[in-house]
Amino acid sequence: MRAAVLWFLPMALATFTEKDNCDRTCGNVSVPFPFGLDESCAWNSNLVLNCSHTLAPPTLFLGSSIPVLNISVENGTMTIGEYIAYDCYDQSGRRLDGSDPHPWITVGEDGPYTFSDTRNKLTVFGCNTLALISDAAGTFGSGCFAYCLEDIDFKAESTCSGLGCCQLSIPKSLRSLNISMASITNYTSVWNFSSCGSAFVVDQESFNVSDYELPVPDDMRKDVFSRVVLDWVVQRNSNCEEARSNLSSYACGANSTCSDFTNGQGYRCFCEAGYTGNPYASPLSPGCQDINECKDPEQYPCHGNCKNTSGNYTCDCPFGMTGDGKFRCQTSRLVIIAAVLVPVTLCIIVSGLLLFICKRRAKERYFRQNGGEILKHQRVKIFTEAELAKATDNYNASNKLGEGGFASVYKGRLDGNFLIAVKKPKDVPIKNLKDMNKDRSLSTHDEFMHEISIISQVNHKNLVKLLGICLETKVPLLVYEFIPNGTLYHHIHDKRSTILRSWKNCLRIIHSDVKSLNILLDEKYSAKVSDFGASVLISPGKTHVAERVQGTIGYLDPQYLSTGELTTKSDVYSFGVILVELLTGETPTRRTKSGERVSIVESFISAVKNRTLLHMIDFEASNEGEMREIEEVGLLARKCLNFKSVNRPTMREVAEQLARINKNLWANPQNDEETQSLLDEPRPDSLLSSITGMNKPDSAFLSVFDIEAATTSSSVVFDIEATTTSSSV
Ligand SMILES: *[C@@H]1O[C@H](CO)[C@@H](O)[C@H](O)[C@H]1NC(C)=O
Ligand SMILES: *[C@@H]1O[C@H](CO)[C@@H](O)[C@H](O)[C@H]1NC(C)=O
Ligand SMILES: *[C@@H]1O[C@H](CO)[C@@H](O)[C@H](O)[C@H]1NC(C)=O
Ligand SMILES: *[C@@H]1O[C@H](CO)[C@@H](O)[C@H](O)[C@H]1NC(C)=O
Ligand SMILES: *[C@@H]1O[C@H](CO)[C@@H](O)[C@H](O)[C@H]1NC(C)=O
Ligand SMILES: *[C@@H]1O[C@H](CO)[C@@H](O)[C@H](O)[C@H]1NC(C)=O
Ligand SMILES: *[C@@H]1O[C@H](CO)[C@@H](O)[C@H](O)[C@H]1NC(C)=O
Ligand SMILES: *[C@@H]1O[C@H](CO)[C@@H](O)[C@H](O)[C@H]1NC(C)=O
Ligand SMILES: *[C@@H]1O[C@H](CO)[C@@H](O)[C@H](O)[C@H]1NC(C)=O
Ligand SMILES: *[C@@H]1O[C@H](CO)[C@@H](O)[C@H](O)[C@H]1NC(C)=O
Ligand SMILES: *[C@@H]1O[C@H](CO)[C@@H](O)[C@H](O)[C@H]1NC(C)=O
Ligand SMILES: *[C@@H]1O[C@H](CO)[C@@H](O)[C@H](O)[C@H]1NC(C)=O
Repeated sequence: MRAAVLWFLPMALATFTEKDNCDRTCGNVSVPFPFGLDESCAWNSNLVLNCSHTLAPPTLFLGSSIPVLNISVENGTMTIGEYIAYDCYDQSGRRLDGSDPHPWITVGEDGPYTFSDTRNKLTVFGCNTLALISDAAGTFGSGCFAYCLEDIDFKAESTCSGLGCCQLSIPKSLRSLNISMASITNYTSVWNFSSCGSAFVVDQESFNVSDYELPVPDDMRKDVFSRVVLDWVVQRNSNCEEARSNLSSYACGANSTCSDFTNGQGYRCFCEAGYTGNPYASPLSPGCQDINECKDPEQYPCHGNCKNTSGNYTCDCPFGMTGDGKFRCQTSRLVIIAAVLVPVTLCIIVSGLLLFICKRRAKERYFRQNGGEILKHQRVKIFTEAELAKATDNYNASNKLGEGGFASVYKGRLDGNFLIAVKKPKDVPIKNLKDMNKDRSLSTHDEFMHEISIISQVNHKNLVKLLGICLETKVPLLVYEFIPNGTLYHHIHDKRSTILRSWKNCLRIIHSDVKSLNILLDEKYSAKVSDFGASVLISPGKTHVAERVQGTIGYLDPQYLSTGELTTKSDVYSFGVILVELLTGETPTRRTKSGERVSIVESFISAVKNRTLLHMIDFEASNEGEMREIEEVGLLARKCLNFKSVNRPTMREVAEQLARINKNLWANPQNDEETQSLLDEPRPDSLLSSITGMNKPDSAFLSVFDIEAATTSSSVVFDIEATTTSSSV
């Protein structure tokens, strides 16, 4: 009979002082705290183990004879070896020597050890084997019967099915085991293939039925262990609550929890979740350690970004994914949308930025191209594109004053209710322009630049004043003073206008320009010349320049038309036409009902010749003085309209004559200054000073009547339509 006997130490609590030199291994089995190989190395005397150095290798024993195979502080278990018991018979049914039909094992009724009811099972092999199990006191009893009628090959089996092998759970709180084996037939019925039975308790985690065969008598001569698992408690006679009440005898260390033993009395310590190590307090033990879960992806799965935290870990799905990273991550719909939207948005922003920069660059380039740097130093105000857009209500159609071939003119209102007229170029190229000027293509830009250079060089009461300019556009925008009373054209030809019924007003308006459309009338019905787009300045001393043919049909010097040579006398002709227009109230050319083009100039010339002028004029009954004045003006007009330019008077002569004709008008004190400037000798430097002297405007008067100093010459008619639509400023 083989029996495991425990020799227990005195149960007094050992005062624990762990020494540096505690031996923590025995053979290849480690002996962790709270166990020890002597009392000073163990939490208490119950946990002192016996290392037999007489054996090779040294073997650890629980008590005097139970071999200890492993100790786990983590699970609170200890694996011990238990010899397997056999019961064998001869052919005649007599028990063989060496049989052990009543094995028993005890781990001490008062000790810290208990058979683990969860890990262990009574296991019986044999073909006619009955095994009964009880504790030493006989407070419980149970059993199983293994039976078979032929040899069994357990290698094919996965469990103890009852055929040749049976298993039986053991109850809780078991500290001793009595096994009793018996056979109904003493194996005589199965002796041909089986004459033994075996019984043992074994850890199910290490048990594999396929490792076994039906027992044979030879097995009795081998010392074969089965692995049995014991649960142990650190302190048998108190639970957690009692233990905590006296901290000097409380075994659980940092980051550990106390757990009341469920398989009997006592308490145990376990590391808190997320910690690992030895939960039992010891000055030399590091205790429970935070687990770096990220280093063990098998046990702590993470499909995203793993982050080790105190006692736990987080697993966030990667950017753009959603879900529980510990379970799985999936691309979120939002991110898919974002993945599309973000680049698109970025594209829009970047291109918007580029466009902004480009526009700015273009603005700056235009500014330079348009002579901004030079003009900056002139008196002309530089407007921004935005300012003018605001002033004209974004070029609202209701603000449109007129429209010509190249540009439209809008009324605008600056801050402080100051009225302006903004001349805005049309962006569309004019097609028939090319046909008319094959050698030299005119552009809107040229036209504007020309106008700017003229208007910024001359400054006169009778010239529309250029207030400012905007250079940020391809073709500059011109800002003029707003002239409230419309064009002379309007007053001559709109029958509703009565202002020109009076000869006095008529004379006041007289002006050397080009065409009545370009003469604006201010609040006092004084003439203002506008539209210098096609004008040229002729320096003093020069009488003519070769120019491209441009001007308004009807106002154009016939000699200029035939020779292409523009002279200071060309304006005299044009002025003559305006006089005729004023006198007769007719447009220079018109069509009869039959569609024939009739020149009013021709009719006028013949009327003067035949002294029938008074039939043609457009004025209501006037006194004789006025009649004479009208006739004199008629004669003057006739002279201006001379086909040969040399025979025409100079503009100065015209101005002097007109002044003489209406002394009353010109002698008006209000007009003294004007008269003075008109009759001034042309200063040789007048043109120069008019160009450079914008900062001293008083000295820079340049009479439009004074053609020796300068002449404004006719605007071109690029398209006939342009003449019929009004093109003021
Ligand atoms: C422990 O030592 C024994 C005997 O040397 C050996 O058979 C066994 O494999 C060892 N166990 C471990 C886990 O090293
Ligand atoms: C004790 O058990 C642990 C865990 O199962 C194992 O790693 C170790 O090798 C075992 N030691 C012995 C001596 O069996
Ligand atoms: C340790 O084992 C030896 C031999 O097996 C035995 O003599 C001794 O009494 C045991 N000591 C303890 C404390 O069990
Ligand atoms: C602790 O218990 C777990 C689960 O039963 C087991 O997998 C592990 O091997 C045990 N550790 C030891 C050292 O016995
Ligand atoms: C079985 O064996 C026992 C013990 O050897 C013996 O007392 C008993 O008589 C035997 N029974 C039979 C039927 O052989
Ligand atoms: C268990 O075995 C022991 C030792 O042989 C014996 O003293 C005890 O009476 C047995 N208990 C039972 C219930 O068989
Ligand atoms: C067992 O052996 C005996 C004699 O050797 C034989 O008569 C009997 O048939 C055998 N039985 C079986 C089941 O093999
Ligand atoms: C039992 O052992 C066999 C071979 O020895 C093996 O194929 C089988 O997987 C093992 N079963 C278990 C549950 O470990
Ligand atoms: C606490 O434990 C210490 C030693 O373990 C013992 O000396 C002391 O009497 C205990 N105190 C109480 C109140 O139980
Ligand atoms: C683990 O122990 C340390 C040291 O005692 C303590 O600061 C920490 O709060 C503990 N952690 C937890 C989760 O209890
Ligand atoms: C870790 O944190 C998660 C929630 O973030 C919680 O469900 C889990 O129980 C924690 N695990 C541990 C070991 O504290
Ligand atoms: C992460 O785990 C390690 C253990 O490897 C631990 O020392 C460390 O404190 C942990 N980090 C955090 C932030 O808790």
